[in-house]
Formats: sequence, C-alpha cells, structure tokens
Amino acid sequence: MLRDATPDDVAMLQYWDTQPHVIESGAADASRDWAQEIGRGSWHDILIAECGGRPIGVLEILDPARDEDRYWGDVEPGVRAIDIWIGEAGDLGNGHGTQMMQLAFERCFADVGVHTILIDPLVSNTRARRFYQRLGFREVGPRRFGHDDCVVYRLGREEWSLRGQRPPP
Ligand SMILES: CC(C)(COP(=O)(O)OP(=O)(O)OC[C@H]1O[C@@H](n2cnc3c(N)ncnc32)[C@H](O)[C@@H]1OP(=O)(O)O)[C@@H](O)C(=O)NCCC(=O)NCCS
Repeated sequence: MLRDATPDDVAMLQYWDTQPHVIESGAADASRDWAQEIGRGSWHDILIAECGGRPIGVLEILDPARDEDRYWGDVEPGVRAIDIWIGEAGDLGNGHGTQMMQLAFERCFADVGVHTILIDPLVSNTRARRFYQRLGFREVGPRRFGHDDCVVYRLGREEWSLRGQRPPP
C-alpha cells in the first residue's frame, strides 16, 4: 500500500538517501531537505510504500506544470512525473517496485485529466531503464537535467489501458 509521507519519515528517508544503490541511481540528493519537502504542495506527492506494515520504498509523483521548481521546464497540464526507489538493498528485485508502479499508475490515471506519465532515469541506470520498459514505458529521448544525463520515457493513458492494467509478464 501507499501512504503519504509524514515528518516521522524524515530520518528514514535521510537514511535511505545514504544507501549505495540509491546514490548510484541518482535518486538521492544529499542536500535534500525532506522536512521541508513533505507536504510542500498538492503538485508534489511523496508516498511511502509499505509491505506488511514495513516501509520499503518511496514514490514521488510530480505535476510538472505546477512544479514550483520547474524541473521539467514548460510542460502542458495532464502530465505526471514519477521517481521511485527501494530503501534497503535487501528489498531490491522482489517485485515491490513493480507493485508500487502499478499503484502509482492507478493513482495518476484516476484523474481523468492525466494523459501521460514521464520518468527520467540516468542513461547509466540500465537496470531501471529495463524495469520501466517492462512496465510499458516508451523512450522519448535523451535529456540533460542539470549535470545528469538522463533518458526520458513516457507512458500514455491509452497504452496503460491496453495493457489491461495488469502487471507485465
Ligand atoms: C528500480 C527499482 C525501483 C525497481 O524496484 P524492484 O523492486 O527492485 O524491481 P522488481 O523486483 O519489481 O523488478 C526487478 C527489476 O528491477 C530492476 N532492478 C533491480 N535491482 C535494481 C537496481 N539495483 N537498480 C536499478 N534497477 C534495479 C531490474 O530491471 C530488475 O529486473 P532484472 O532482474 O531483470 O534486471 C529498484 O530496483 C530501485 O530502487 N533501484 C535503485 C534506485 C533506482 O534505480 N531508481 C530509479 C531511478 S530512475
């Protein structure tokens, strides 16, 4: 299940930011002030995924058109951008990420105004790129965000619907 992050999660999020697999993925930013970011605005959801009551990972869902930081630049309404990471290395590769993304898709597309989901893994993060492609994302192309060389992928509402909203094979 997914729940909103609260100030009680700050220490855990900071700890996860120190994990080598999170740092390597570019998902972590040591300078990030979680206490300030949690509850910052309705355009930015920070969600904790729990399995059997145990927190296992984070999902961030951003509305780029309303993002105060303008990370994605000019973006039309109806788009959401997702970031995801599993906190502990021991929880990687157990299907949690796939389940989290399915929940994120349902959540995003529950808003009838949302037509597209974007993600931007580092070019070097080949495992995450494979993960996203298996979920139905299609490559848009390379893009540099700050100092990061990324690849943008998109998933449209119609592709998601055609997949029957089921986990991929
Ligand atoms: C990407 C991620 C969220 C997927 O969640 P997961 O629970 O590990 O994934 P699942 O078990 O549902 O699916 C397995 C797939 O996840 C991906 N994956 C597994 N470990 C990974 C790792 N250390 N880094 C990146 N992707 C990984 C692979 O595509 C894997 O498939 P493979 O075994 O055929 O290579 C998770 O691996 C993770 O947090 N990785 C590190 C952070 C990251 O890369 N986040 C994405 C930033 S854009």
